[in-house]
Parts: sequence; structure tokens; C-alpha cells
Amino acid sequence: NEIYLGGLGGAVPELPMTAAELEQQARETLSAAAFAYIAGSSSTERTARSNVDAFASRRIVPRMWRGASAPDARDLSVEVLGTRLAAPILTAPVGVLGMVHTDAEPSVGSAASELGIGSVLSTASSTALEDVAPSSGENWWFQLYWPADHELAESLVRRATAAGAKAIVVTADTPGMGWRPRDLTLGHLPFLKAEGIANYLSDPVFRSRLATPPEESAEAMQIAVLTWVGMFGNHTLRPSDVERVRQWTDLPVAVKGVLHPDDARAVVDAGAAGVVVSNHGGRQVDGSISSLDALGPIADAVGDRAAVLLDSGIRSGSDVIVALASGADAVFYGRPWVYGLGLAGRAGVVHALWCLLADFDLTMGLAGLSSIKEIDRSVLADR
Ligand code: FNR
Repeated sequence: NEIYLGGLGGAVPELPMTAAELEQQARETLSAAAFAYIAGSSSTERTARSNVDAFASRRIVPRMWRGASAPDARDLSVEVLGTRLAAPILTAPVGVLGMVHTDAEPSVGSAASELGIGSVLSTASSTALEDVAPSSGENWWFQLYWPADHELAESLVRRATAAGAKAIVVTADTPGMGWRPRDLTLGHLPFLKAEGIANYLSDPVFRSRLATPPEESAEAMQIAVLTWVGMFGNHTLRPSDVERVRQWTDLPVAVKGVLHPDDARAVVDAGAAGVVVSNHGGRQVDGSISSLDALGPIADAVGDRAAVLLDSGIRSGSDVIVALASGADAVFYGRPWVYGLGLAGRAGVVHALWCLLADFDLTMGLAGLSSIKEIDRSVLADR
């Protein structure tokens, strides 16, 4: 309504209204390196495309005259992993955001919090987690890239818990980086930048591994960055390591990057309270199954034993409905808000999130849906 009423006076929104146009404007505006980092996926990028195509292949069957079309008829709120959200949406963990904008993570956390949804802070944030927490309200989770050094992993989890995170999301699909041609072409590895290691530079365990404090010289900082890269990823993790995280924190633990029902069962058996069905936006295994195609069998395998979340390919309100109808309890929203951040900082993130929420809310009402619990498989056409 705000936009239409503004339009009566000739005003048009300053930022584009769709994910595709946000990407296009970011392509024209951001530095080549920043755009390549955000937009790039692995190898032929066909998994990134298939994530989006999978959503386009599902069809919602709207129902009529159910009294859901009035805005106040709808309740979009949910509780996921003990976190109450105004809608089943959290911002996905995205690292090295300092490449895209200054003051990035506090902007993202406060934008999500303003709209009543959640945010997931990446291990590779450009601001130390203790400095992001105060802006992020009550609904933020911490994403762990489990380093080779277990003591450092423990320290990160304990710090996030002490700072007020409401859940820990352990990313399982990144023991190392995927083959990402857009970054390779530019000859840059985003993770080789100091913008991604604020949580390390502020960590006592990490600092104890360095001979010289990184602040002392440019060379010492370079060594700190290389030390982090050397520690990045852990090839030895097993489902039973979920139990280890649970000894470090009382928070619910979710595992992100699950694509096989047996893997979902294994981590839930080991104590995970949630699984995030994700192929990392197509940035890891090119040619892998789309996240939406992986979702149904995983939701069936997990049943009521754990929360099921999904990311990779969410671009519109109807995508959120399709994900929920296919078995997800909530979704992580990724690239579109990162483009918003690059284009207009915090206001750009608010804009991108607000567009998704408005689209989701209106589409629910028009489809005859008045609450999240009404969204089940009956909402979709048989394929
Ligand atoms: C990511 N993703 C990611 N995941 C994670 O667990 N930790 C991280 O630090 C990052 N960093 C990151 C950077 C960038 C630029 C992107 C695009 C993605 C993956 C992210 O959480 C999510 O899985 C994907 O973004 C989902 O795909 P779409 O919907 O954004 O295409």
C-alpha cells in the first residue's frame, strides 16, 4: 500500500522489487570482485540454476473464499528451534560481507530484527560476534565453520553462546571450498582477506596459535589470514561430533548442508535439533541435487524428531510457501539481501527482506492460507 500510495504522487521505490533485478543492479554497481564473490557458484553453476528451476517447477493450487485475504486474517509466525519468528524466515549465514559493505553484519542483524525475523551470523563475519550481537535483537543464531583445531571450534561456540545466540548451525558441506570459477578468474580468494576473520582475530585460542599479534604489522596480519586459511575446514567430522558441540553449549544445534535422508537421520540420532537442507547455493558440489528436490525425503526421514529448514534458491514469497509445503519449517534467505546490502547498506537489506515478507504475506492470503500450520503438501499440485 505504501508503494501504491506513493505512486499516486509520482514516487517510485529507489531499489528494485525483485530478486532478479536486485542482482542485475548489483552487477552494474558493485565491484567486479564483490559481485563475483556473491553471485558465483561452483563449476558450471548448474546446481545454482537448478535450485531456482526446482522452485519454478512446483505449482501452488490457490483455494478461494476461505476468509484469508484480509491482511489481519493472517498469522505468519512460527517457533523454530525455540526461537519465535514473525515469519518462517532467517537471513542465511554469509561470510566476508566486509567485501560488500562496511558495518555489514550489524546492519543485517538489526534489519532482520526490525522485521521480526531471524538472522544467522557466519563464522567468517567481518565484525566480531560480540560486536554484532547488540544490534541483532533476540533472534540470531551462530553458524560454525568447524576449523581443523577443535579447541578453536569450542571457543567460537562458547563465545556465541555467551553473546546471546539462540542456536548453533554447524555447516557440514564445506570441509574445503568448492571450485568457483568466478573467483578463480579474478585471481582472488575472498577468504584470503582480513574481512573474513574478525571472529578469529578476537579469539584467545586463535591468537595463542600466532607468534606475533596481527595488529603489529601488515605482515603479521597476513600471517594471521594464512593461519586461518590453513585451519579452515575439517575433513574428520562425523555425525557423532554433534554430541561434542552439545557439550560446549546448551543451545539447540542444527546441521547445515544435509542432502541425503540417511545423513539427516544420523545427525538427528546424534542429537541435532535441526537439519538445514542446503547445497550452499550451488557453491560446493556442482551437479548436486537441488535443495528443494532433496527436501521431501529428508522431511519424511526426520519426521517430528527435529526441525527441518531449507535454503538455496529462495527468491520470492511463493518459494517460501513451496518450501514449507514440501516439508520445511522455515527457510534461510540468501543472495537477494546480500545484493541489497551492497546497493544500499542496511536500508537495502531492510528493502530486500521487506519485499520477500510482503510477497509471502500477500501470496498466502490470495492462496487462501491464513496460518503457517495450514501449509502442507495439499497446497501443491501433483507433479
Ligand atoms: C554463503 N553461504 C555460507 N554458508 C555458511 O554456512 N557460511 C558462510 O559463511 C557462507 N558464506 C556465503 C557467502 C556467499 C556470498 C553466499 C552466496 C553464500 C551459503 C548460504 O548460507 C546459503 O546456503 C546460500 O546462500 C543459499 O543459496 P541462495 O538462495 O543464496 O542462492
